[in-house]
Amino acid sequence: MSKTWNTRTRAVHGGSRRSQYGEVSEAIFLTQGFVYDSAEAAEARFIESGDDEFIYARYGNPTVKMFEERIASLEGAEDAFATASGMAAVSGALTAMLKAGDHVVSAKALFGSCLYVLEDVLTRFGVEVTFVDGTDMDQWRAAVRPDTKAVFFESVSNPTLEVVDIRAVSQIAHEVGALVLVDNVFATPVFSDAIAQGADVVIYSATKHIDGQGRTLGGVILGTREFIRKTVEPYMKHTGGSMSPFTAWVMLKGLETLSLRVNAQAENALRTIEAVREHPALVRAIYPGHPSHPQHNLALAQMEKGGTVISLDLKGGQPAAFTFLNALKIGKISNNLGDAKTIVTHPATTTHSRLTEEQRAELGITPGLVRVSMGIEDTEDLIGDIGQALDSTLTG
Ligand SMILES: Cc1ncc(COP(=O)(O)O)c(C=O)c1O
Repeated sequence: MSKTWNTRTRAVHGGSRRSQYGEVSEAIFLTQGFVYDSAEAAEARFIESGDDEFIYARYGNPTVKMFEERIASLEGAEDAFATASGMAAVSGALTAMLKAGDHVVSAKALFGSCLYVLEDVLTRFGVEVTFVDGTDMDQWRAAVRPDTKAVFFESVSNPTLEVVDIRAVSQIAHEVGALVLVDNVFATPVFSDAIAQGADVVIYSATKHIDGQGRTLGGVILGTREFIRKTVEPYMKHTGGSMSPFTAWVMLKGLETLSLRVNAQAENALRTIEAVREHPALVRAIYPGHPSHPQHNLALAQMEKGGTVISLDLKGGQPAAFTFLNALKIGKISNNLGDAKTIVTHPATTTHSRLTEEQRAELGITPGLVRVSMGIEDTEDLIGDIGQALDSTLTG
């Protein structure tokens, strides 16, 4: 692959490995293991495997390798390890590098399962975690210590779409020698170059935009070759969170159309926000790509576009939010995001229901808040659908 290729070319051709048949579509090596020519060859491979040599699918597989190389080239990372889900990536990256006595600083605006890993799991194994408001640099500065080994945050938070300044937090973390781990799901590999901005480790739930068609769970950890192969790989391959070859094939196909999809989704997000933001049913309409977002300048300084998700806070709380969800004809009620289909979620009663009411209030996850993951459907159809569902909250 040429080093000069741009994102869209890398997303289609990066990492491809063709067999002797010269297939156009990447092959699925649906095999858990590999046959060795001799006992000596098996022994040699266990001592050291070459780049094109595999042992067992939990350790690595040619289709999975293609996905890892393609996403690494897209992200500008030295290497990647593909995982069974986004949460396998988040928990794997953290537990692979931490030990009892270490200190972590994390933004508190986190997806519920990420919060569980930081608040309940790591602390059970003697890791101390300090939570901060991710948008407040003074809090990051006050929280980091000489024994801080990692900082963790979602670059755009789920579901209130707050933007965390990757450059500023990285600078603060690097001053004490801590690694910067960024859950970059909402920013997507197309709009963001988090590593160039200072992140050491970038994590994606590939379930979201990378598949983008609601088929499989997956995740990926990206970083330096040293971190991926010396820290992440030994932990993941022995604890079992690796990606399956079939999933990797689905994700490879997803990467081919990723840029087309997320650009169409971001366009739908911006046009929809412009069309509905003054609607009388709304307390506020949130989209980092719109000038009305308080961190719009920061969002566009660290992302090419504002992402694919908008959040709408409805007057009338949960009853109005439920009326809105139930009135939609195109938007589907579910809890994924980044899909080609528009998906609407009521975070307070689903994805963020494990948070206490106080935690939700602190994070701005009001009872009236709905998250709308914009799909690739026709823009006018979506604006019409969301508009009529908003109208119904005023009459219904
Ligand atoms: C920000 C964020 N991180 C991680 C995950 C977990 O991904 P997965 O469901 O693939 O495990 C999600 C899923 O919703 C998410 O929104």
